[in-house]
Amino acid sequence: MKLNRIIRRKTPVIMLTLSLLLAAAAMNFSWVNNAPEYTGDTYVYKVLDDMGNPRPAGYMENITEEMVQRGYDMIYHGYTEHKPGGGKSKYISLYYVCTNCHNTVVEDPVLTDMDPTGRLAYAKEKNLPFLQGTTFYGAVNRETWYNGDYYKKYGDLVKPATHDIRGAIQLCAQECSKGRKLADWEVESILAYYYSVSYKLSDILSDGEIADLNRRAASSSEHAALISWIKSKYALLSPATFVEPPYERDSQATPKGDPENGKAIYQLGCQSCHKAYGCSDAVFDNSKFTFNKFDKDFDKDYWWLYKIIRHGQYGYPGHEPYMPHYTAERMTDQQIEDLKAYFEQEAAS
Ligand code: HEC
Ligand code: HEC
Repeated sequence: MKLNRIIRRKTPVIMLTLSLLLAAAAMNFSWVNNAPEYTGDTYVYKVLDDMGNPRPAGYMENITEEMVQRGYDMIYHGYTEHKPGGGKSKYISLYYVCTNCHNTVVEDPVLTDMDPTGRLAYAKEKNLPFLQGTTFYGAVNRETWYNGDYYKKYGDLVKPATHDIRGAIQLCAQECSKGRKLADWEVESILAYYYSVSYKLSDILSDGEIADLNRRAASSSEHAALISWIKSKYALLSPATFVEPPYERDSQATPKGDPENGKAIYQLGCQSCHKAYGCSDAVFDNSKFTFNKFDKDFDKDYWWLYKIIRHGQYGYPGHEPYMPHYTAERMTDQQIEDLKAYFEQEAAS
Protein backbone atom coordinates (compact mmCIF):
# COMPACT_ATOMS: atom_id res chain seq x y z
CA MET A 1 0.00 0.00 0.00
CA LYS A 2 2.66 2.39 1.17
CA LEU A 3 4.95 1.63 -1.74
CA ASN A 4 2.09 2.03 -4.18
CA ARG A 5 1.32 5.45 -2.78
CA ILE A 6 4.92 6.50 -3.07
CA ILE A 7 5.09 5.40 -6.68
CA ARG A 8 1.84 7.20 -7.46
CA ARG A 9 3.04 10.36 -5.82
CA LYS A 10 6.43 10.24 -7.47
CA THR A 11 5.19 9.28 -10.93
CA PRO A 12 5.68 12.74 -12.40
CA VAL A 13 9.24 12.84 -11.08
CA ILE A 14 10.02 9.37 -12.38
CA MET A 15 8.54 10.23 -15.76
CA LEU A 16 10.50 13.43 -15.94
CA THR A 17 13.75 11.69 -15.02
CA LEU A 18 13.12 8.96 -17.54
CA SER A 19 12.35 11.38 -20.32
CA LEU A 20 15.44 13.43 -19.48
CA LEU A 21 17.55 10.28 -19.65
CA LEU A 22 15.97 9.35 -22.96
CA ALA A 23 16.53 12.82 -24.34
CA ALA A 24 20.16 12.72 -23.23
CA ALA A 25 20.61 9.32 -24.86
CA ALA A 26 19.00 10.59 -28.04
CA MET A 27 21.25 13.64 -28.06
CA ASN A 28 24.24 11.47 -27.50
CA PHE A 29 23.13 9.20 -30.29
CA SER A 30 22.63 12.05 -32.70
CA TRP A 31 26.03 13.45 -31.71
CA VAL A 32 27.57 10.17 -32.80
CA ASN A 33 25.67 10.40 -36.06
CA ASN A 34 26.78 13.97 -36.65
CA ALA A 35 30.41 13.21 -35.98
CA PRO A 36 32.19 14.12 -39.19
CA GLU A 37 32.15 11.23 -41.55
CA TYR A 38 35.37 11.60 -43.50
CA THR A 39 35.55 10.58 -47.14
CA GLY A 40 38.32 10.41 -49.69
CA ASP A 41 37.46 13.98 -50.69
CA THR A 42 37.93 15.44 -47.21
CA TYR A 43 40.90 17.77 -46.99
CA VAL A 44 43.65 16.53 -44.70
CA TYR A 45 44.13 19.97 -43.12
CA LYS A 46 40.48 19.93 -41.99
CA VAL A 47 40.82 16.53 -40.38
CA LEU A 48 43.94 17.66 -38.53
CA ASP A 49 42.14 20.81 -37.40
CA ASP A 50 39.11 18.81 -36.18
CA MET A 51 41.46 16.73 -34.07
CA GLY A 52 43.00 19.71 -32.37
CA ASN A 53 46.26 19.89 -34.29
CA PRO A 54 47.64 23.40 -33.60
CA ARG A 55 46.64 25.71 -36.42
CA PRO A 56 49.58 26.63 -38.64
CA ALA A 57 50.37 30.31 -39.30
CA GLY A 58 48.99 29.90 -42.80
CA TYR A 59 45.64 28.48 -41.70
CA MET A 60 42.73 29.94 -43.63
CA GLU A 61 39.21 29.79 -42.40
CA ASN A 62 37.10 31.36 -45.08
CA ILE A 63 38.08 30.27 -48.52
CA THR A 64 35.80 31.34 -51.34
CA GLU A 65 35.70 30.04 -54.89
CA GLU A 66 36.39 33.55 -56.05
CA MET A 67 39.67 33.67 -54.14
CA VAL A 68 40.72 30.28 -55.43
CA GLN A 69 40.01 31.41 -58.99
CA ARG A 70 42.08 34.58 -58.53
CA GLY A 71 44.90 32.52 -57.08
CA TYR A 72 44.73 30.17 -60.05
CA ASP A 73 44.84 33.12 -62.49
CA MET A 74 47.88 34.60 -60.80
CA ILE A 75 49.76 31.32 -60.60
CA TYR A 76 49.11 30.31 -64.19
CA HIS A 77 48.95 33.69 -65.90
CA GLY A 78 50.71 36.10 -63.54
CA TYR A 79 47.64 38.32 -63.05
CA THR A 80 43.87 38.14 -62.65
CA GLU A 81 41.15 39.97 -64.53
CA HIS A 82 38.93 39.83 -61.46
CA LYS A 83 40.68 41.71 -58.73
CA PRO A 84 38.56 42.68 -55.71
CA GLY A 85 36.40 45.63 -56.74
CA GLY A 86 36.89 44.70 -60.40
CA GLY A 87 39.54 45.19 -63.02
CA LYS A 88 42.79 43.59 -63.98
CA SER A 89 45.73 43.27 -61.61
CA LYS A 90 49.32 44.09 -62.52
CA TYR A 91 51.63 41.28 -63.57
CA ILE A 92 53.51 39.75 -60.67
CA SER A 93 56.57 39.35 -62.86
CA LEU A 94 57.49 40.45 -66.36
CA TYR A 95 59.55 37.32 -66.89
CA TYR A 96 57.92 34.34 -65.27
CA VAL A 97 54.71 32.77 -64.11
CA CYS A 98 54.84 30.50 -61.06
CA THR A 99 54.19 27.39 -63.16
CA ASN A 100 57.45 27.91 -65.06
CA CYS A 101 59.17 26.45 -62.01
CA HIS A 102 56.44 24.64 -60.03
CA ASN A 103 53.93 21.92 -60.82
CA THR A 104 50.46 22.10 -59.28
CA VAL A 105 49.73 18.37 -59.17
CA VAL A 106 51.26 15.44 -57.30
CA GLU A 107 54.77 14.89 -58.66
CA ASP A 108 56.18 12.26 -56.29
CA PRO A 109 54.79 8.73 -56.53
CA VAL A 110 55.63 8.18 -52.86
CA LEU A 111 54.56 11.27 -50.92
CA THR A 112 56.96 10.68 -48.05
CA ASP A 113 59.90 10.48 -50.37
CA MET A 114 60.87 13.47 -52.52
CA ASP A 115 63.27 11.49 -54.62
CA PRO A 116 64.22 12.61 -58.15
CA THR A 117 64.55 9.07 -59.53
CA GLY A 118 60.99 8.18 -58.62
CA ARG A 119 59.85 11.65 -59.68
CA LEU A 120 61.32 11.34 -63.17
CA ALA A 121 59.72 7.93 -63.72
CA TYR A 122 56.40 9.42 -62.57
CA ALA A 123 56.88 12.54 -64.75
CA LYS A 124 57.46 10.30 -67.79
CA GLU A 125 54.33 8.33 -67.05
CA LYS A 126 52.16 11.43 -66.49
CA ASN A 127 53.94 13.78 -68.89
CA LEU A 128 54.73 16.28 -66.12
CA PRO A 129 57.34 19.02 -66.16
CA PHE A 130 60.52 18.07 -64.24
CA LEU A 131 61.35 21.32 -62.48
CA GLN A 132 63.50 23.05 -59.88
CA GLY A 133 60.67 24.20 -57.59
CA THR A 134 58.59 21.80 -55.52
CA THR A 135 54.99 21.21 -56.55
CA PHE A 136 52.30 23.44 -55.06
CA TYR A 137 50.20 20.34 -54.48
CA GLY A 138 50.41 19.74 -50.75
CA ALA A 139 52.39 22.95 -50.15
CA VAL A 140 50.11 23.96 -47.27
CA ASN A 141 50.45 20.50 -45.75
CA ARG A 142 54.17 21.09 -45.34
CA GLU A 143 55.29 22.71 -42.11
CA THR A 144 58.39 24.62 -43.24
CA TRP A 145 59.45 26.13 -46.58
CA TYR A 146 62.71 27.17 -48.18
CA ASN A 147 64.46 24.49 -46.25
CA GLY A 148 67.99 23.22 -46.14
CA ASP A 149 70.51 25.21 -48.11
CA TYR A 150 68.23 27.92 -49.46
CA TYR A 151 69.47 30.34 -46.81
CA LYS A 152 72.77 30.21 -48.73
CA LYS A 153 71.06 31.73 -51.72
CA TYR A 154 68.61 34.11 -50.07
CA GLY A 155 70.21 34.78 -46.67
CA ASP A 156 67.95 36.41 -44.09
CA LEU A 157 65.17 36.65 -46.68
CA VAL A 158 64.27 33.04 -45.92
CA LYS A 159 63.58 33.83 -42.25
CA PRO A 160 59.99 35.07 -42.74
CA ALA A 161 59.47 32.28 -45.26
CA THR A 162 60.50 29.16 -43.39
CA HIS A 163 57.70 29.12 -40.82
CA ASP A 164 54.99 30.99 -42.66
CA ILE A 165 53.85 30.04 -46.11
CA ARG A 166 52.66 33.60 -46.74
CA GLY A 167 56.28 34.69 -46.36
CA ALA A 168 57.34 31.95 -48.77
CA ILE A 169 54.84 33.19 -51.35
CA GLN A 170 56.13 36.75 -51.03
CA LEU A 171 59.75 35.64 -51.25
CA CYS A 172 59.16 33.65 -54.39
CA ALA A 173 57.06 36.35 -56.03
CA GLN A 174 59.82 38.90 -55.49
CA GLU A 175 63.05 36.92 -55.66
CA CYS A 176 62.53 33.68 -57.61
CA SER A 177 60.14 35.32 -60.06
CA LYS A 178 62.04 38.61 -60.25
CA GLY A 179 58.71 40.24 -59.59
CA ARG A 180 57.12 42.64 -57.17
CA LYS A 181 55.72 42.68 -53.65
CA LEU A 182 52.22 41.21 -53.57
CA ALA A 183 49.22 42.97 -52.07
CA ASP A 184 47.55 41.19 -49.16
CA TRP A 185 44.61 40.06 -51.26
CA GLU A 186 47.03 38.54 -53.78
CA VAL A 187 48.82 36.53 -51.11
CA GLU A 188 45.46 35.41 -49.71
CA SER A 189 44.26 34.36 -53.16
CA ILE A 190 47.37 32.33 -53.87
CA LEU A 191 47.06 30.74 -50.45
CA ALA A 192 43.39 29.96 -51.10
CA TYR A 193 44.42 28.25 -54.33
CA TYR A 194 47.03 26.25 -52.39
CA TYR A 195 44.34 25.03 -50.04
CA SER A 196 42.36 23.87 -53.05
CA VAL A 197 45.34 21.77 -54.12
CA SER A 198 46.18 20.46 -50.67
CA TYR A 199 46.10 16.76 -49.84
CA LYS A 200 42.79 14.99 -49.58
CA LEU A 201 42.41 11.82 -47.57
CA SER A 202 42.30 9.76 -50.77
CA ASP A 203 45.83 11.00 -51.59
CA ILE A 204 47.27 9.52 -48.44
CA LEU A 205 44.97 6.74 -47.17
CA SER A 206 43.31 3.67 -48.64
CA ASP A 207 39.52 3.21 -48.33
CA GLY A 208 40.10 0.75 -45.50
CA GLU A 209 42.29 3.26 -43.69
CA ILE A 210 39.65 5.98 -44.10
CA ALA A 211 37.07 3.64 -42.56
CA ASP A 212 39.49 2.98 -39.73
CA LEU A 213 40.03 6.72 -39.29
CA ASN A 214 36.26 7.26 -39.01
CA ARG A 215 35.96 4.55 -36.37
CA ARG A 216 38.82 5.86 -34.29
CA ALA A 217 38.05 9.58 -34.74
CA ALA A 218 34.94 9.19 -32.55
CA SER A 219 37.05 8.97 -29.42
CA SER A 220 39.12 12.02 -28.67
CA SER A 221 41.71 9.95 -26.81
CA GLU A 222 42.76 8.64 -30.23
CA HIS A 223 43.32 12.06 -31.77
CA ALA A 224 46.99 12.55 -30.93
CA ALA A 225 47.85 9.14 -32.39
CA LEU A 226 45.74 9.81 -35.48
CA ILE A 227 47.46 13.16 -36.07
CA SER A 228 50.90 11.56 -36.09
CA TRP A 229 49.65 8.69 -38.23
CA ILE A 230 48.24 11.11 -40.82
CA LYS A 231 51.40 13.21 -40.81
CA SER A 232 53.54 10.14 -41.40
CA LYS A 233 51.89 9.73 -44.81
CA TYR A 234 53.54 12.67 -46.59
CA ALA A 235 56.72 14.74 -46.46
CA LEU A 236 56.42 17.59 -43.97
CA LEU A 237 59.01 19.62 -45.83
CA SER A 238 60.77 19.70 -49.14
CA PRO A 239 64.46 19.23 -48.37
CA ALA A 240 67.06 21.17 -50.34
CA THR A 241 70.73 20.29 -50.61
CA PHE A 242 73.01 22.36 -52.83
CA VAL A 243 75.67 20.25 -54.48
CA GLU A 244 78.75 20.89 -56.57
CA PRO A 245 79.66 18.93 -59.67
CA PRO A 246 81.60 15.82 -58.59
CA TYR A 247 84.92 17.30 -59.78
CA GLU A 248 86.98 14.87 -57.73
CA ARG A 249 85.24 11.84 -59.21
CA ASP A 250 87.40 9.06 -60.53
CA SER A 251 86.65 8.78 -64.26
CA GLN A 252 86.45 5.00 -63.85
CA ALA A 253 83.65 5.54 -61.35
CA THR A 254 81.58 7.66 -63.69
CA PRO A 255 78.24 5.92 -64.00
CA LYS A 256 76.99 5.14 -67.49
CA GLY A 257 74.16 7.39 -68.55
CA ASP A 258 70.82 6.12 -69.82
CA PRO A 259 69.93 8.19 -72.91
CA GLU A 260 66.26 7.23 -72.65
CA ASN A 261 66.03 8.90 -69.24
CA GLY A 262 68.14 11.74 -70.59
CA LYS A 263 65.61 12.37 -73.32
CA ALA A 264 62.84 12.64 -70.74
CA ILE A 265 64.88 15.12 -68.69
CA TYR A 266 65.55 17.17 -71.79
CA GLN A 267 61.92 17.27 -72.87
CA LEU A 268 60.17 17.51 -69.50
CA GLY A 269 62.87 19.60 -67.79
CA CYS A 270 65.07 21.75 -70.02
CA GLN A 271 62.61 22.23 -72.88
CA SER A 272 59.78 23.27 -70.60
CA CYS A 273 61.62 26.62 -70.33
CA HIS A 274 63.98 26.53 -73.29
CA LYS A 275 61.29 26.52 -75.94
CA ALA A 276 59.89 29.16 -78.25
CA TYR A 277 58.01 31.71 -76.11
CA GLY A 278 59.30 29.95 -72.99
CA CYS A 279 60.78 31.85 -70.05
CA SER A 280 64.30 31.66 -71.47
CA ASP A 281 65.60 33.39 -74.58
CA ALA A 282 67.82 30.37 -75.23
CA VAL A 283 65.69 27.98 -77.28
CA PHE A 284 66.83 24.35 -77.35
CA ASP A 285 65.25 22.40 -80.18
CA ASN A 286 65.75 18.81 -81.31
CA SER A 287 67.99 19.57 -84.25
CA LYS A 288 71.29 17.91 -84.95
CA PHE A 289 72.82 21.38 -84.84
CA THR A 290 71.76 21.88 -81.21
CA PHE A 291 72.96 18.46 -80.06
CA ASN A 292 76.26 18.92 -81.86
CA LYS A 293 76.74 22.18 -80.04
CA PHE A 294 76.04 20.57 -76.66
CA ASP A 295 78.42 17.77 -77.52
CA LYS A 296 81.21 20.15 -78.49
CA ASP A 297 80.68 22.06 -75.26
CA PHE A 298 81.87 18.97 -73.36
CA ASP A 299 85.21 19.23 -75.17
CA LYS A 300 85.56 22.82 -74.05
CA ASP A 301 84.47 22.16 -70.49
CA TYR A 302 83.78 18.63 -69.34
CA TRP A 303 81.64 19.96 -66.48
CA TRP A 304 79.50 22.50 -68.32
CA LEU A 305 76.28 20.52 -67.97
CA TYR A 306 76.86 19.85 -64.28
CA LYS A 307 77.67 23.51 -63.75
CA ILE A 308 74.55 24.92 -65.37
CA ILE A 309 72.33 22.40 -63.57
CA ARG A 310 73.99 22.69 -60.14
CA HIS A 311 74.58 26.45 -60.20
CA GLY A 312 71.90 27.71 -62.54
CA GLN A 313 72.65 30.98 -64.22
CA TYR A 314 72.29 34.45 -62.78
CA GLY A 315 70.62 37.30 -64.59
CA TYR A 316 72.41 40.60 -64.89
CA PRO A 317 71.32 44.23 -65.08
CA GLY A 318 69.24 44.62 -68.19
CA HIS A 319 68.63 40.88 -68.39
CA GLU A 320 66.63 39.65 -65.44
CA PRO A 321 65.74 36.08 -66.40
CA TYR A 322 67.97 33.64 -64.61
CA MET A 323 68.03 29.89 -64.41
CA PRO A 324 67.28 28.36 -61.00
CA HIS A 325 69.60 25.48 -60.15
CA TYR A 326 68.52 21.93 -59.42
CA THR A 327 69.27 20.76 -55.87
CA ALA A 328 70.22 17.16 -55.08
CA GLU A 329 66.54 16.53 -54.29
CA ARG A 330 65.42 17.83 -57.69
CA MET A 331 67.98 16.04 -59.93
CA THR A 332 70.56 13.33 -59.26
CA ASP A 333 74.10 13.17 -60.65
CA GLN A 334 73.03 10.00 -62.42
CA GLN A 335 70.29 11.97 -64.17
CA ILE A 336 72.82 14.54 -65.31
CA GLU A 337 74.87 11.66 -66.75
CA ASP A 338 71.69 10.40 -68.43
CA LEU A 339 71.17 13.80 -70.05
CA LYS A 340 74.80 13.88 -71.17
CA ALA A 341 74.42 10.40 -72.67
CA TYR A 342 71.35 11.60 -74.58
CA PHE A 343 73.21 14.61 -75.98
CA GLU A 344 76.08 12.36 -77.06
CA GLN A 345 73.77 9.82 -78.62
CA GLU A 346 71.90 12.48 -80.62
CA ALA A 347 75.12 14.15 -81.75
CA ALA A 348 76.51 10.80 -82.90
CA SER A 349 73.35 9.64 -84.68
C1 HEC B 1 62.17 30.93 -61.75
C2 HEC B 1 61.64 29.86 -60.95
C3 HEC B 1 60.54 30.13 -59.97
C4 HEC B 1 59.39 30.88 -60.15
C5 HEC B 1 58.99 31.67 -61.35
C6 HEC B 1 58.64 30.76 -58.93
N1 HEC B 1 59.29 29.94 -58.05
FE1 HEC B 1 58.65 29.46 -56.18
N2 HEC B 1 60.39 28.44 -55.87
C7 HEC B 1 61.39 28.25 -56.81
C8 HEC B 1 62.44 27.48 -56.22
C9 HEC B 1 63.70 27.01 -56.92
C10 HEC B 1 62.07 27.24 -54.88
C11 HEC B 1 62.92 26.53 -53.84
C12 HEC B 1 62.30 25.62 -52.93
C13 HEC B 1 61.55 24.47 -53.56
O1 HEC B 1 60.44 24.67 -54.06
O2 HEC B 1 62.05 23.36 -53.50
C14 HEC B 1 60.75 27.84 -54.71
C15 HEC B 1 60.00 27.78 -53.55
C16 HEC B 1 58.72 28.24 -53.41
C17 HEC B 1 57.89 28.01 -52.25
C18 HEC B 1 58.29 27.19 -51.05
C19 HEC B 1 58.21 25.73 -51.41
C20 HEC B 1 58.73 24.82 -50.32
O3 HEC B 1 58.05 23.83 -50.00
O4 HEC B 1 59.83 25.07 -49.80
C21 HEC B 1 56.70 28.64 -52.48
C22 HEC B 1 55.51 28.67 -51.56
C23 HEC B 1 56.80 29.25 -53.78
N3 HEC B 1 58.02 28.98 -54.33
C24 HEC B 1 55.79 30.00 -54.36
C25 HEC B 1 55.90 30.59 -55.62
C26 HEC B 1 54.88 31.44 -56.19
C27 HEC B 1 53.57 31.78 -55.53
C28 HEC B 1 55.33 31.82 -57.40
C29 HEC B 1 54.69 32.74 -58.39
C30 HEC B 1 54.30 34.04 -57.90
C31 HEC B 1 56.63 31.21 -57.58
N4 HEC B 1 56.93 30.46 -56.49
C32 HEC B 1 57.41 31.37 -58.71
C33 HEC B 1 61.40 28.72 -58.09
C34 HEC B 1 60.45 29.54 -58.64
C1 HEC C 1 62.59 27.10 -65.02
C2 HEC C 1 63.08 27.32 -66.34
C3 HEC C 1 64.33 26.63 -66.79
C4 HEC C 1 64.59 25.28 -66.80
C5 HEC C 1 63.69 24.14 -66.32
C6 HEC C 1 65.89 25.12 -67.38
N1 HEC C 1 66.40 26.34 -67.70
FE1 HEC C 1 68.23 26.70 -68.51
N2 HEC C 1 67.91 28.68 -68.38
C7 HEC C 1 66.74 29.29 -67.99
C8 HEC C 1 66.89 30.71 -68.07
C9 HEC C 1 65.81 31.73 -67.75
C10 HEC C 1 68.19 30.97 -68.51
C11 HEC C 1 68.86 32.34 -68.69
C12 HEC C 1 69.18 32.61 -70.09
C13 HEC C 1 68.18 33.45 -70.78
O1 HEC C 1 67.03 33.06 -70.88
O2 HEC C 1 68.54 34.50 -71.28
C14 HEC C 1 68.80 29.67 -68.72
C15 HEC C 1 70.09 29.46 -69.20
C16 HEC C 1 70.61 28.25 -69.59
C17 HEC C 1 71.86 28.06 -70.30
C18 HEC C 1 72.77 29.15 -70.76
C19 HEC C 1 72.26 29.62 -72.09
C20 HEC C 1 72.96 30.81 -72.63
O3 HEC C 1 72.75 31.08 -73.81
O4 HEC C 1 73.67 31.46 -71.87
C21 HEC C 1 72.01 26.72 -70.48
C22 HEC C 1 73.16 26.03 -71.19
C23 HEC C 1 70.86 26.08 -69.89
N3 HEC C 1 70.03 27.04 -69.36
C24 HEC C 1 70.68 24.72 -69.87
C25 HEC C 1 69.59 24.09 -69.29
C26 HEC C 1 69.45 22.66 -69.21
C27 HEC C 1 70.45 21.65 -69.73
C28 HEC C 1 68.29 22.43 -68.58
C29 HEC C 1 67.67 21.10 -68.24
C30 HEC C 1 68.40 20.26 -67.33
C31 HEC C 1 67.69 23.72 -68.26
N4 HEC C 1 68.51 24.70 -68.72
C32 HEC C 1 66.49 23.89 -67.59
C33 HEC C 1 65.60 28.65 -67.55
C34 HEC C 1 65.48 27.29 -67.37
